[in-house]
Amino acid sequence: MAMIGVLDGANLNGGQKLAVKYYAVAVVLFGAQVLFGLLSGLQYLNPDFLFGVLDFNVNRMVHINALVVWLLYGFLGSVYWLLEEEAQHEVVGLRLGNLIFWVLTSAVAVVVLVFLVVQVGPGRMSSIWLINEGREYIEAPRWADIGIVVSVLVFFYNVAATFTKGRFTGIAGVLVMDLLALFGIYLAGMFYVTNVSIDQYWWWWVIHLWVEATWEVMVAVIMAYGLMKILGVSRRIVETWLYIEVALMFGSGILGLGHHYFWIGTPEYWLSIGGFFSALEPIPLVAMVVHAVYDAGSHKIKNSNHPAMAWIIAQAFGNFFGAGVWGFMHTLPQINLYTHGTQWTASHGHLAFFGAFATINIAFFYLAMQKWRGNVWMSEALAGNGWKWKWALGLLNVGVIGMTIAMLISGYEQSQIERAIEGSTWAGYFVAQAHPWFVQGMWWREAFGLMTVAGYVLMVWDLLTIGKVETRVMVTAPGSEGQGAYAG
Ligand code: HEM
Ligand code: HEM
Ligand SMILES: [Fe+2]
Repeated sequence: MAMIGVLDGANLNGGQKLAVKYYAVAVVLFGAQVLFGLLSGLQYLNPDFLFGVLDFNVNRMVHINALVVWLLYGFLGSVYWLLEEEAQHEVVGLRLGNLIFWVLTSAVAVVVLVFLVVQVGPGRMSSIWLINEGREYIEAPRWADIGIVVSVLVFFYNVAATFTKGRFTGIAGVLVMDLLALFGIYLAGMFYVTNVSIDQYWWWWVIHLWVEATWEVMVAVIMAYGLMKILGVSRRIVETWLYIEVALMFGSGILGLGHHYFWIGTPEYWLSIGGFFSALEPIPLVAMVVHAVYDAGSHKIKNSNHPAMAWIIAQAFGNFFGAGVWGFMHTLPQINLYTHGTQWTASHGHLAFFGAFATINIAFFYLAMQKWRGNVWMSEALAGNGWKWKWALGLLNVGVIGMTIAMLISGYEQSQIERAIEGSTWAGYFVAQAHPWFVQGMWWREAFGLMTVAGYVLMVWDLLTIGKVETRVMVTAPGSEGQGAYAG
C-alpha cells in the first residue's frame, strides 16, 4: 500500500481499476445530463431559446439518454468493483473487459455527437441504422445497439466466469440471474415495427422492466454488498433480505408493467392487471427502507465511510418516495386518466431516477475514492474539507426535491384544468399551459435545477479532493470485511 491519502492504482484490484474508469465516465455523463436538463428547462420558459440551433427534442433526448447511460456505467462499475472481493478470485478475461470499456465509450461519444449534428432529417431505414432509433431513453441507432449487445456479452462473461471459478455466493447468484434478465430485455427495444401500439408495447418491456424490476434488483445487490462493507452487516442478513426483496420486486413489478398499457391501444384487461400489481410495487421499497434503517440502527450507525452511508440512506428514502409514493400516486387507471403524460409524470420520473439510482452510484463513487486513496479515513471530522460532501449532499437532494415539487404543482394544474375541466381538448392544453400555476412551476423547476447543478459541481470537486490531506487510516466497522479483504 502506498501512502495514505495519495491516489494510487496499486490500492485497487484489477476489477476495481476498471471500475474507476466506468465511474469517471459516469460522472462526466452525469454532468452532461444536468447541463442538457437546464437547457431543456430554459426552453420551457422561452421556447425561442436556441430554436433551430439546439432544439428542445434534442436537448431532452441527450438529457435522458445521458441519464440512462451514466447510471448503467455506474452499475457496470459497481459490479467490477465488488467482483474480485465477492468471488475471491481475480476477474477472468479482464483484458477483454478493458478493451470493451474503450469500445463502448467511443460508441457513446459518437452516438451523442451524431445526435447533436444531425438534428433533423427524413425518417428512413438508414436513419434507424445510423442516426436515431426513435425510442425514448434508448434512442441509440442500431449499429450502436449491436455494439452494446457485444460489449454486454463480454461483460457478462467477465462476471459469470469469475464467480464460477471463484466463490459463487448468494449475492453472485442473484447478480448473474439479474444481468441475464436486464440484458435480455434490451433486445425487446431493438425491433422495427410499423404499428405504434405494438412498438410501445415492446418498448415498455425495456423501460419498465428495467427500472421497476431488473435495475431495482441490481441496486439491491449493490446495496447488500455496500451494507456489508461500510456497516459490517453480516452476509446472512443481507442475503436473506436480498431474496425477500427480489421475490417481492418481481412479484409486483413484472405485471405492474400493465400501468403503461392503459391508453396505448392494448386490451382492456390491462386496466385491472396494471392497476392491481403496480399498486403492490411500493411494498418491496418499504422493505428496503426498513432493512437499511434497521441495519444502520443495529450497528449504531458506526460506519467506515460517512458520505457513502449518507447516500445509502438517501437511496432508501429516495427510492421509497420517488418510485413508491410518487409512483403510487398516479398508478391507478382512475387517476392516471387525468395525470397521464403531464408534468406529474415528469415529477415522478425525476425523483424516482434520482432517488433510486443516482444516489447509490454516488455512494459507490465515495467508496471508490476511499480505497483509491489507500483506505483513507472518511468518518467524522474529516481533515480539511468535511463541509463539501455535506453541502453537495444537501444541494443535490434539495435541488431534486424542489424540482419534483415544482413539477408536481404544474402537473396538478394540468390534470385539473386541461384534463378535468377542459376535457382533454386541444384548446384545453393551451389554456393549461398558459395558467400561472403551470408557468410558475416551470420557473421554480429551473431555479431548483440550478441548485442541483451547483450540488453536482461541488460533488465533483469533493470527489477529487476528499481524503487528500487526511493522514488517518479507515477504521473498519466491527465484523466488517472492510474494504480490500481481497486485494488481488
Ligand atoms: C425506480 C423506479 C422507478 C423509476 C425510475 C420510474 C420512472 C418513471 C419515468 C421516467 C416515467 C415516465 C416515462 C415516460 O417517459 O413516459 C414513469 C412513468 C410511470 N411510473 Fe414510474 N418509475 C419507477 C417506479 C414506479 C413505481 C413503483 C410505480 C407505481 C407504484 C410507478 C408508476 C408509474 C406510472 C403509472 C407511470 C406512467 C405515467 C403516465 O401515465 O404518464 N413507477 N416512471
Ligand atoms: C439539473 C436540473 C434538471 C433540469 C432543469 C431538468 C429538466 C428536465 C426537462 C425540462 C425535462 C423534459 C420534461 C418534459 O418533456 O416535459 C426533463 C426530463 C427528464 N429528466 Fe430532468 N432535469 C434536471 C435534472 C435531472 C436529474 C438529476 C434527473 C434524474 C437523476 C432527471 C431525470 C429526468 C427524466 C427521467 C426525464 C424524463 C421524464 C418524463 O418523460 O416524464 N433530470 N428534465
Ligand atoms: Fe412502470
